[in-house]
Amino acid sequence: LSYWAVIPAAGIGRRMGSEIPKQYLELRGRAIILHTLDRLLAHPSVNGVVVALSRHDGWWEHLEPHYDKPVTRVEGGIERCHSVLNALHELALHADDADWVLVHDAARPCLSHSDLDKLIQTLADDEVGGLLGVPVRDTMKRAEANDRVVDTVERENLWHALTPQMFRLGPLRHALEQAIEAEQLVTDEASAMEHAGYQPRLVEGSAGNIKITRAEDLVLADFYLQQQES
Ligand code: CTP
Ligand code: MG
Repeated sequence: LSYWAVIPAAGIGRRMGSEIPKQYLELRGRAIILHTLDRLLAHPSVNGVVVALSRHDGWWEHLEPHYDKPVTRVEGGIERCHSVLNALHELALHADDADWVLVHDAARPCLSHSDLDKLIQTLADDEVGGLLGVPVRDTMKRAEANDRVVDTVERENLWHALTPQMFRLGPLRHALEQAIEAEQLVTDEASAMEHAGYQPRLVEGSAGNIKITRAEDLVLADFYLQQQES
């Protein structure tokens, strides 16, 4: 039984508003996507990575990453879920349907070894799989379109969904295909699995595993990376 990683990296980073897609911005002297790759490939259980890149990507080839494990490139799709599905189709050419796949955003370079290891260890014998998450700490409000509060949402069992999200190759591929076909909202792998009737398991990770979305996140990410270096 093998473990593979998929990195969706075909986004344009609209909210970041930088000249180049955010995954190619540098933090601590290294492109964000390379930090992300380093972290996944450093785990002894991870056999290799498939990266989904935009067809217009002109940056990847200049990074020339050298790893002793296979890093395969595929073309991304219109939305994140299409990018992930393309990568799963590539994996299916040589991997087993029962193999584990860890899908991790290129824009989350601060994934710690301990969180990754905890996810893998916790789900190793799980029938379904699951994802890293962080319990919600703020009071949550539901509003109408005019920003007026309708009610306060019970925070008790609410989590922020993070990545990696770890599922078996066959079931995940089918779940994503079904969800896309049914025009479901699939913003992560877990939502596709939920739509297919599974109950993914949440594994508590650290809040430092942020997704770099806006410019101010770069400062935070730099801080977390620096903390992990020391
Ligand atoms: N992604 C992808 N294919 C897409 C869209 C997004 O592979 N069609 C990837 C992004 O590159 C990123 C991850 O999915 O690593 C999470 O998406 P997000 O943070 O939304 O990145 P962008 O879509 O690039 O940013 P924005 O939504 O601000 O444009
Ligand atoms: Mg996006």
